[in-house]
Amino acid sequence: MHGGNDACGARAVARCTELGRAPYSQMEGGLFRPYLGPSYRATCERLAQWMQDAGMATRMDAAGNLIGRYGGQSPDAPVVLIGSHIDSVRDGGFFDGMLGVVLGIEAVAHFARQGKRFPFALEVIGFGDEEGSRFPRGMLTSHAVAGVLESPDPDMTDCMGTATLATALREYGLDAKRMHMASRRDDPVVAYVEAHIEQGPVLEAEGHALGVVSAIAAQHRYRVTLCGMAGHAGTVAMKLRRDALAGAAEIILAVERVGRAGGDGLVATVGSLEVAPGAANVVPGHVAFTIDVRAGTNATRDDAAREILHIAHQVAKRRGLGMDVVLQQDLDATPCGPRLTDLMKHAVRAVTHTPARLLVSGAGHDAMVMAHLAPVSMLFIRCAGGISHNPAESVTDADAGLALRAMTTFIGLFERRFG
Ligand code: GLV
Ligand code: MN
Ligand code: MN
Repeated sequence: MHGGNDACGARAVARCTELGRAPYSQMEGGLFRPYLGPSYRATCERLAQWMQDAGMATRMDAAGNLIGRYGGQSPDAPVVLIGSHIDSVRDGGFFDGMLGVVLGIEAVAHFARQGKRFPFALEVIGFGDEEGSRFPRGMLTSHAVAGVLESPDPDMTDCMGTATLATALREYGLDAKRMHMASRRDDPVVAYVEAHIEQGPVLEAEGHALGVVSAIAAQHRYRVTLCGMAGHAGTVAMKLRRDALAGAAEIILAVERVGRAGGDGLVATVGSLEVAPGAANVVPGHVAFTIDVRAGTNATRDDAAREILHIAHQVAKRRGLGMDVVLQQDLDATPCGPRLTDLMKHAVRAVTHTPARLLVSGAGHDAMVMAHLAPVSMLFIRCAGGISHNPAESVTDADAGLALRAMTTFIGLFERRFG
């Protein structure tokens, strides 16, 4: 495509939309693209083709991330990574993650058309498992790239009960023991830049197409299991019951109460609940659920998590339930790199002709992990109604075009600063 940024913004939106259905989704009537599934493989093949068309050499790293490289002025030039994630939540939207990947490809295509090379290489990276929608832990693959992956349990089973992490990797020609070899610790990575839909309503409400992220909220994700006693729903007297689901219900309401009472961007969610045996005429004997707690600071998140878990223990004790809690995701509040954030503010101002709106991201991003490797910057793009993790997610061609201009302007500014 030789059109301007608007045409390329439209193409980015069209590409995300194309990737929203089979074979790039493995859910009937919606989008679900779990890490290393067949839809993931098909998507990587399509993305690799677009990367090659844009002038990049492509490869898959040891963690299953897809990387396209547009070399710099010298073979050993430092690297600027541009990326986001390929995987999706179940019944997700087309743009969460994918828009950042395809905008990265459009940014490289923009420079390749001009024959422009930088004193740094540009690499577009599509991360495998930001969401944690297949295996219980998310962001394993950015942990691997940042060189901070602490041996993940190769026997953890996926949400479909079809494979362990080790088998899923093996089926993909990868090896759980070698995931850490995706590390870029020994490479001169000088920046990580991620464009992403806002996933919230602020930009739309205030009339901004774009925003700049100053920091990303701290996050804890727990898996809680409660063990009571299954029994006949018609014969076990109410006072003799050890109903795991009724216990979970009390805890879930406490999660909501604690989340509501806090400030500092505190939010707390139970988003998944499994009940066993799960029959109308059986007292539930076993329940597993997640608790997701986030806040602007680690301290606020930690206080809330402590309070929730304290209440949960009290409920379990009073009801005679066994309880097990596993912390599955532990991400610190992450400030974006101040110098890069300044450059991104300049870039947004240059393309929108208004001062950049700074935001704290309540959503988690691979940038939180990549901050262990290099300074990070994030560009936010307005999405309709602030809706995300929902098939109704939507972005306009014009906003995607503006985002592309902001990204290419940022890279140009970075070159000047870099020299
Ligand atoms: C990912 O979208 C997250 O914020 O959990
Ligand atoms: Mn995302
Ligand atoms: Mn998401």
